[in-house]
Parts: sequence; structure tokens; C-alpha cells
Amino acid sequence: MIELQNVCKSFKDQRVLDGLSLNVPDGRITVLLGRSGSGKSVTLKHIIGLLRPDAGRVLVDGEDITALDGSALNRVRAKFGVLFQDGALFDSMNVFENIAFPLIEHAKLKKGELRARVEEALAAVSLSRVEEKMPAELSGGMRKRVGLARAIVLHPSIILYDEPTSGLDPLLTDNINHLIQETQRKFNLTNFIISHDVGAALRIADKIAVLYEGKILEEGPPGQIAASTNPFIRAFIEGRQGEYDVL
Ligand SMILES: Nc1ncnc2c1ncn2[C@@H]1O[C@H](COP(=O)(O)OP(=O)(O)O)[C@@H](O)[C@H]1O
Ligand SMILES: [Mg+2]
Repeated sequence: MIELQNVCKSFKDQRVLDGLSLNVPDGRITVLLGRSGSGKSVTLKHIIGLLRPDAGRVLVDGEDITALDGSALNRVRAKFGVLFQDGALFDSMNVFENIAFPLIEHAKLKKGELRARVEEALAAVSLSRVEEKMPAELSGGMRKRVGLARAIVLHPSIILYDEPTSGLDPLLTDNINHLIQETQRKFNLTNFIISHDVGAALRIADKIAVLYEGKILEEGPPGQIAASTNPFIRAFIEGRQGEYDVL
């Protein structure tokens, strides 16, 4: 389980996280909802130790990772598969090399095993015969799938998604959301998804947490969030969050 306890983080005089506390339960899909610039990606970077909190703790399976560095942090990071916001494929590598990259970094495998693991990851995202293609030759949806294949190739117990469907059309968005649910069921993974897509969150999450002004405003099952009486959450759900930009 991932647990953030009272995490505070400022950049210069801008306070982004202001005592954020959140539990991400095992084997479930948790969605962190928040508008653009609210600190969602900053939160994710604390979970993998790319950023350290000014105050507070980040626990992964009971271990405080804010005190770790070097090989100890790498050991914890191996539990995570991460799908970054832009897909972040290496443009100069083909699909095979992109997906094999974490395996080459973290696991010593023979050539045949490497090929088998890459094929398994591609099959899990319903892609085949694309190993030789370069990222530039793929559609946006295919790039997301390849990014997801790379995130799962090490058989992580936790997958973190940063805006997995941003920039995709509605059909592809459904497609990727479906894939996330399928992957979750198949491998019984812990999923933490960052999103500003309320509709998708309500459909796929087991738990939703709403980030607002550096804290969790409300958390609970989708039904509870959908019925929230909090004015910001109501505005967010009803697509009127723009009203809050002027406050
Ligand atoms: N490394 C950084 N240095 C300075 N400011 C940052 C850094 N990372 C994020 N921020 C700021 O923190 C705020 C939240 O960013 P972010 O977490 O990326 O938002 P989002 O919710 O859209 O993912 C933004 O105002 C952003 O400019
Ligand atoms: Mg972001």
C-alpha cells in the first residue's frame, strides 16, 4: 500500500502540497482528481521518490521512502510501473527497444527470454507485429499502449498513470480506460491514476480522491464523490470548474 502522510511541498514561495494525506489501497484502482496545475504530477513524483517532501512522509508497503536514496530507492522503484503524462517513449528506439529497456536495466535475461517478455507485454495491451516500428510511426493511442506495455514489462505490483488519456479522442479514451481495467484484473495490480477526467474516474475507480489547494478535499467510492455536496466538487463534476479559477 502507498500512504502519503501530511506531505508538504513548495517551489520557491509557491506552496503546491499543503498537508496532503492519502491512502492508496492494494489491488484497487484509485484515481486522484484535480484540475490542471493542482499538484497531481508533483504528488506522483513524491511516490516514486523523484521529489522529496519539505515535511511529511511517503510510505510504500510500510517503508518511509523519503529517507532512502541510491540502491535502496531503486529497490522500491522496481515495484512501480509508471506511465508518464506524455507517454515518454524514446524516439530514437523502436518499439521492441523501448519496451525491453526496463528489463535490460533491472533484469538479467537471455535474448530469448527478453523477446518473450516483450511479446507478453505487447499482447497484454493488444498489440502485435509492431516491434520494429519507431514511435513516430505510431498513432497516439498506439503510443499510449506501448507506454503501458513498457510500464508492465517488469511485472510491477503497482502502476502509476499520469493522465493516461489526455489528448486522446473519446473512442481511444474508452479504449485505454478499458485496457487499464483489464490489466488491473489480469494482474491484480494496485493502480494509481492521476486525471482531470471526472467521467472516466467515476466509471473505472474503486476510490476517488479530490485534490484541491494542496490537500485532499474529499475521498471515497465513486458513488460518494458523485453525490458530494462540496461546492468545488459539484462544480468539477458538472464541468463548471472554470468558475473556481477566478476565486
Ligand atoms: N520542479 C518544479 N519546479 C517548480 N515548480 C514546479 C515544479 N514541478 C511543478 N511545479 C509547479 O507546481 C504546480 C503543480 O504542478 P503539477 O503537479 O505538474 O500540476 P498537475 O496537477 O497539472 O499535474 C504548478 O504550478 C507547477 O508549475
Ligand atoms: Mg500533471
